[in-house]
Amino acid sequence: MTKSSSSSFALVLSFLLITMFSTAPTAGFPICSTIHGVQVGETCFSIIQKFAIEQPLFLRLNPNINCSGIFVGQWVCVNGR
Ligand SMILES: *[C@@H]1O[C@H](CO)[C@@H](O)[C@H](O)[C@H]1NC(C)=O
Repeated sequence: MTKSSSSSFALVLSFLLITMFSTAPTAGFPICSTIHGVQVGETCFSIIQKFAIEQPLFLRLNPNINCSGIFVGQWVCVNGR
């Protein structure tokens, strides 16, 4: 393999990687765009409804959330991809 063909291979590879990441937002790390501080009386369910976020997305954005132990002042992610 010549020097120029291996560098164009690297170019194609990086292009493929960029395309994969930009067209598959659900794969890889979730990106949080809005956070919300939990208020008195709120539950996971009321937050999901209030911010009209899909539950699977909510859970993906908050992988460590414990919905039976949610507390006032806790920061949760309510929008992102
Ligand atoms: C979630 O919170 C509840 C109530 O505080 C607790 O009993 C339970 O063990 C917690 N679950 C996890 C997975 O941390």
